[in-house]
Amino acid sequence: MPLEGNTALDADGGNDSAVAALLEVSSYLAADVEAPAFFGRLSASIAEHTGAGRAAFWRLGPRGTLSVQPGTAGFEDHPHLQEVRVHLGARGEGAIERLLFGDELDVMQGTAPELDAVWRAAGLHEIASSLAAPWRAGDRRFGMVAVYDSTRGFTARDLSLLRMAGSVAGLLWQFRESERELGRTAARLEEAVSARRHLLNNIAAGGDEARRRFASALHDDSLQLLTGAELQLERIRADAKGSRHASNLDQLRSTLRKVEDSLRRLLINVSPDPLQPPKDLNDAIRERLESMRIGAGIEPHVVSRLPGNLAPAIKAIALKNIAEALTNVEKHARATRVTVVTEGVDRGLRVEVRDDGKGFVVAESVRLPGHIGLLALTERVQLAGGWCRIQSEPGAGTKVEFWMPLTL
Ligand SMILES: Nc1ncnc2c1ncn2[C@@H]1O[C@H](COP(=O)(O)OP(=O)(O)O)[C@@H](O)[C@H]1O
Ligand SMILES: [Mg+2]
Repeated sequence: MPLEGNTALDADGGNDSAVAALLEVSSYLAADVEAPAFFGRLSASIAEHTGAGRAAFWRLGPRGTLSVQPGTAGFEDHPHLQEVRVHLGARGEGAIERLLFGDELDVMQGTAPELDAVWRAAGLHEIASSLAAPWRAGDRRFGMVAVYDSTRGFTARDLSLLRMAGSVAGLLWQFRESERELGRTAARLEEAVSARRHLLNNIAAGGDEARRRFASALHDDSLQLLTGAELQLERIRADAKGSRHASNLDQLRSTLRKVEDSLRRLLINVSPDPLQPPKDLNDAIRERLESMRIGAGIEPHVVSRLPGNLAPAIKAIALKNIAEALTNVEKHARATRVTVVTEGVDRGLRVEVRDDGKGFVVAESVRLPGHIGLLALTERVQLAGGWCRIQSEPGAGTKVEFWMPLTL
């Protein structure tokens, strides 16, 4: 059968049809359909544009085996198609590998005879004619796209249309894969963000969970039991008044009181900081500075341009960090003056605590074993998604600066 002469398409008609096919293929991208429906529609339009009775995508498995991708066109009468396997064969050797990826497919008398032989060998005996092209994106091979049983005899133009469809389908598939990957990454990121938020609120609240649980067990169980025992003892003491046990019981009572006192002291030490963040950050800062002025004679200077409506966790972390920096000034700096700047910058809160004290070698001091104030300060802001800079030199004072985004 002559190739081109018999087709109804002229050159322009061929191009039109290729463009129409491509447009159709890419329109599936927008439609959010499941894979089988997607391939079903794609196969049907490829069959239509190449004048084929059937069309299917074959998916390349891990061991070079091709099996049909669910969603075919014209194979309704072939329920066992799913079980058919075609082997790609070693690189350059197998018929499919050579014909498709080696670009050696010849169209003769309306079909590709070498390809027809492959189908028959795989058990698809009723195939009358066929063409196939790689389904790939760049170097990534997904498999092949094949059309069967032409109504008018396949042509070279059908083959180039099929090749184009295979490449576009490859790009689409890659795009869908990246989209799915992106979706998974976004979900993981969302989990990480919420874990971080949780952690951060915990830190801002000043309580680590273990401490809180220990404190409440101490309060609710141990101290209650002790109070119960003391009440019991009181009754026994009343009954035993004047007996030979009286002085021993007095002794026991004073021991129990001492135990209770020491447990209460322990409770105060292990109880986490109160959960409320400061009501007014400015007031809290000024109070702290005032006590430093009275206690250590350090002259305070405040520049406050705080943004309104700070989240409680941000306020709490900011105050914790300012308190740490100021304690350092008081403890280590021998400064005469300290400046605290707070301002809204880049949709975040920037804080600067600066002193004119003796300064220190930053690289050495931030790693001192047992001295974790600056380290904890840095970690808190990093956890909040911000940054921290510590600048100092012996004799040149110290500047601790940090920034946190306003939303966690
Ligand atoms: N404002 C400051 N002026 C001088 N030295 C400082 C200042 N802040 C921190 N340092 C030095 O850095 C060290 C580490 O500080 P930090 O991590 O807060 O631990 P700590 O306060 O428990 O010693 C301090 O021991 C001190 O030597
Ligand atoms: Mg410190």
